[in-house]
Amino acid sequence: SANEGPAGRQPTATYDSAFLKACRREPVPHTPVWFMRQAGRSLPEYRKVREGIPMLESCTRPELVTEITLQPVRRHDVDAAIYYSDIVVPLKAIGVDLDIKPGVGPVVEKPIRTRADLAQLRDLTPEDVSYVTEAIGLLTAELGATPLIGFAGAPFTLASYLVEGGPSRTYENAKAMMFGDPELWADLLDRLAEITAAFLKVQIEAGASAVQLFDSWAGALAPADYRRSVLPASTKVFDAVAGYGVPRIHFGVGTGELLKLTSETGADVIGVDWRVPLDEAVRRIGPGKALQGNLDPTVLFAGPEAVEAKTREVLEAAAGLEGHVFNLGHGVMPTTDPDALTRLVEYVHTRTGR
Ligand code: CP3
Repeated sequence: SANEGPAGRQPTATYDSAFLKACRREPVPHTPVWFMRQAGRSLPEYRKVREGIPMLESCTRPELVTEITLQPVRRHDVDAAIYYSDIVVPLKAIGVDLDIKPGVGPVVEKPIRTRADLAQLRDLTPEDVSYVTEAIGLLTAELGATPLIGFAGAPFTLASYLVEGGPSRTYENAKAMMFGDPELWADLLDRLAEITAAFLKVQIEAGASAVQLFDSWAGALAPADYRRSVLPASTKVFDAVAGYGVPRIHFGVGTGELLKLTSETGADVIGVDWRVPLDEAVRRIGPGKALQGNLDPTVLFAGPEAVEAKTREVLEAAAGLEGHVFNLGHGVMPTTDPDALTRLVEYVHTRTGR
């Protein structure tokens, strides 16, 4: 039975996979690879099954979620699957009036600007997202030894959409609340931490083998502001799921100046974008963490030789790390040639011992 011992509720073969070993900083047979946004528009088979189905609706259909999550695993031979969903799914599930507009991103009908607006954010229960539990049950049955990564948006990144009302380059409304009404801001982030923690627990209890917290836009903040106004909420999320023993990954874009602080959230694995080489990242972070990254996603547009040369640079910078999960420095861009991704997985695997 898989219910006793360190593997917990997952099969031993999953627990012993290269991806989970690297997250735990144990020796690996080869460097594991997966890609943020590996499921999605870069794949023709994704565009086909999504035809005519709005993004958020697609996230509520367990069979469709299962198929889309499996597509990149079948095609690229990646070492982990990432659950197909979106960071705004738990917010939609508790009744926040929002949608994902194609080519734009999440758009919120009534942005959160005042204390009264916090009433939009009630607690999330497993029943609100029963389709997630169902889809993860289907997925783990299909995945065999391949681990499934669950994920959620971090409180700051979720707040950036909720306060701005949509995507932003400056986050002026969110930052105005953070600087101008720190008590309201702290309460907003604390609410979001509870919702996010509840959403991650649902995924882990359903069978996810690791979780990633996407604080994609945290790089917009100065270190002192991150420490004071964001770190407590992200730490609360990681603390809430620490007891499950599954690896917890933190990722943000442009967080080079925040790497030490983001590692203080308690995450086990730190995702690094392409702006900081991994050997420099580990100097900033210190010992005790695995690192994930960090090929520039635009390199995939440059042809096989350039991809191999830039990949060797990443692997060389990672050579002294205790644990390395190969990934891009941010998500796969929708116009990426999927064959370039398949070749990249194969190249990392053969270069590192498979
Ligand atoms: O393969 C995977 O990584 C899993 C799927 C996934 C999606 N969203 C599906 C999606 C993940 C991990 C996310 C997370 C997410 N969503 C983040 C954090 C990751 C990051 O990139 O930093 C953010 C900031 C969002 C918000 C969001 N949702 C944006 C900015 C967009 C793009 C809008 C567009 O059309 O360009 C979305 C929509 C979205 N989420 C798509 C997918 C596959 C595209 C919509 C579609 O296919 O119609």
